[in-house]
Amino acid sequence: MVNVPLTHCTKYKKNGEEENMNSQMLREARGYEEIYAKQIPEEARPAFHLSTRVGWMNDPNGFCYYQGKYHLFYQYYPYDSHWGPMHWGHAVSSDLLHWEYLPAALAPDELYDRDGVYSGGAGVLPDGRHLLIYTGRVLQNRADGGIDEIQKQCLAVGDGVDYVKYENNPVIDGSDLPEGSSRTHFRDPKLWQEADGTWRCVMGNLAADGTGQIVQYESKEGFRWNFKSVIAKNNGRFGVMWECPDFFELDGKHVLLTSPQDMLPDGFEYHNGNGTLCLIGTYDDKTGELTEEHNQAIDYGIDFYATQTILTPDGRRVMIAWMQNWDTCNLHTRVQPWFGQMTLPRELSVKNGRLYQQPVRELLELRENAVTCEDVLVKDGTVTLEGIRGRRIDLELELSAADPEDIYKKFALHFAQNKTCYTAVSFRPYEEIVKIDRKFSGSRRAIIHQRRCLICDAQAKADGTPGAKQGHLKLRLILDRFSAEVFLNDGEQVMTMTLYTDHDADGISFVADGAVRLNVTKYDLR
Ligand code: FRU
Repeated sequence: MVNVPLTHCTKYKKNGEEENMNSQMLREARGYEEIYAKQIPEEARPAFHLSTRVGWMNDPNGFCYYQGKYHLFYQYYPYDSHWGPMHWGHAVSSDLLHWEYLPAALAPDELYDRDGVYSGGAGVLPDGRHLLIYTGRVLQNRADGGIDEIQKQCLAVGDGVDYVKYENNPVIDGSDLPEGSSRTHFRDPKLWQEADGTWRCVMGNLAADGTGQIVQYESKEGFRWNFKSVIAKNNGRFGVMWECPDFFELDGKHVLLTSPQDMLPDGFEYHNGNGTLCLIGTYDDKTGELTEEHNQAIDYGIDFYATQTILTPDGRRVMIAWMQNWDTCNLHTRVQPWFGQMTLPRELSVKNGRLYQQPVRELLELRENAVTCEDVLVKDGTVTLEGIRGRRIDLELELSAADPEDIYKKFALHFAQNKTCYTAVSFRPYEEIVKIDRKFSGSRRAIIHQRRCLICDAQAKADGTPGAKQGHLKLRLILDRFSAEVFLNDGEQVMTMTLYTDHDADGISFVADGAVRLNVTKYDLR
């Protein structure tokens, strides 16, 4: 192991006392968030989704298990509820659901990151220190009046609260990228450690042909990095630049997750513009290339982008994402004290050649007040059920056709409902399509309100059991104060959206055109 000099990566001592080397800019951010976060009442935030401490949040960063806690950092601008020069916000949790804020971890306070401390990852060094890797962004004026943007990868080392940027930053500048690859679009390193203790990271980059590629770097000790390979190339298929990659082995396959910008819809896949992509395949570490066998969107809803995963101490691959999307995130007013929340952390698996997602099992611990109604017939009308309502709930629903010879035309679940508002998840068996619709959720803006998902029925097809065409669908809806996440057929597909309906709109009703039989269980989430 190379012994790297780390004089700047320790707290230094002045007059015998340890003094924190945090910059003025970081100290100001920490002071600001401390004061202004207190002005946001608890009920004005999600109950079990992480939201920004104050101001603006985008991508999850540095998702890591360190010293007995889950650490999650995030792209952060404390001073405004709109995007600004990026800092890293910081929170910790024991159960992935309840988060405690820690002081902001990084600010754009060095020459090599002065225009933004962009997304990145984290790991734990053999000596117990916490290692962060991120993209430093710099804008440079050109002689012709234009502006060049340069992105380079940088390190910071810390103790779980305070981080010091590495004296030899930047550590990866793209000089060894393949011929013609962009130095402007070269960002979002995601870090992991191999079984032999060496380090790898993947990054998004634009290839010479102007479309995305994922590049892989390797390092013996985490500080000196060399280019290893291009893991996957877009070849003009999925959007343009690929942001926020993650790469891991799961259930005998290799999975590449990334968030491509400027995607074109392909059938019912990739409708989000700024979309998400999951490639599943076989990886050869000799060539460093992934041979793709399957592609799909990660989430089929509206507000979802920039995934990041962690391998939990008990071996689960858990993914979290920004529960917003660049196409829908700039219509709120500046007076809003916070904007940006994360999705529920989701356990991933690969089955039937596809990516499956389930809310982390820790969520089951929050369930209380179960209400179950079995074999309910909803026929050409609307039904409400005693005890089935709420805005912080976990709702499980199984639908089937009351008459297999005459399959219902449409079923809809209405929730977050009062006299004027509701949001709907509807299902048309003959089209095999589930639609989410928040048009009547109380929004006064013409943002994107609907998204459709073509049910893939991978498990039903494998088992030869009734699927969407026969009117069969399993649905799990998780509602928090500002969001709805819909898990279809045991997590085969997921649709996520944010929701700003008044919290006292807690009604739920079931609507059918035709005859639907349903089993439903509702739990409140503490
Ligand atoms: C993705 C992204 C990243 C970048 C960060 C900047 O949402 O554009 O590529 O690092 O956000 O905030």
